[in-house]
Amino acid sequence: MVGSTNEELLQKSASGAPEGTVLIAERQLAGRGRLGRRWLDHPGGSVLCSVLFRPPFEPRWWYLAPWVVALAASKAALETTAVRCRLKWPNDLLAGEGGRKVAGVLSETSGEGGLVVGIGINCNWPPEFPPAGSAEAAAIAATATSLDRVAGAPVDREALVARMLELVAEAWTRLLAGGPAPDPGAVAELCSRYRDSSSTIGELVRVEMAGEAVTGRALDVDDQGRLVVESATGARPIDVGDVVHLRSGAGAGAD
Ligand code: BTN
Repeated sequence: MVGSTNEELLQKSASGAPEGTVLIAERQLAGRGRLGRRWLDHPGGSVLCSVLFRPPFEPRWWYLAPWVVALAASKAALETTAVRCRLKWPNDLLAGEGGRKVAGVLSETSGEGGLVVGIGINCNWPPEFPPAGSAEAAAIAATATSLDRVAGAPVDREALVARMLELVAEAWTRLLAGGPAPDPGAVAELCSRYRDSSSTIGELVRVEMAGEAVTGRALDVDDQGRLVVESATGARPIDVGDVVHLRSGAGAGAD
């Protein structure tokens, strides 16, 4: 049990831990989500995993690491549970009717050239989870679900995380083959897989950012991983934000 696997791995990164160091927890007492949110887990019912990358690339390419993790988790989920996930920009995995959030990805830098990418996957939720009684739990219940609920069968977390880590290693190795810049062929393949898995591209969205929101059509992701949204003022690439899909029934994601 840890506070946060990301936090622990950031500390190990600062002490010189090598690329490929992985931390996995059964539960977290202070799980962190994107944009300063909390990440709640059901103890023993999730994959809570952080991976340390040491990208030799310029920071503009670092978005590739969370994409590698999200796509690996999606493929591993399909192979081990038969659940097909879609990616909500930037890196939420949605599944089931209406596209509910089953996983989220958080990237954090350690300042020593380290990039920690953590993923939380909701695997096996008992009927009473999330517990009633807080607004936070109600928001999760309204927008998130677990792979076992979608699959209709218990999820083998070990098989899922083992396959995910194998796929992460394969995809990252292909990117590293390019030397100090990511291999162009591997980038093109990853971006194409990301676009094919995206539930956001093509949708009418509202993107909530610090102090403002943009509403428009999500056109694409650009070569820096930004979401390009066509609004009344033209096409605008967005680095960081929270996306709400405005078509009815779309998943809103919950932390
Ligand atoms: C999000 O969707 O907001 C991202 C959630 C990321 C949660 C994972 S669980 C493992 C790792 N450790 C953390 O504290 N957070 C990430």
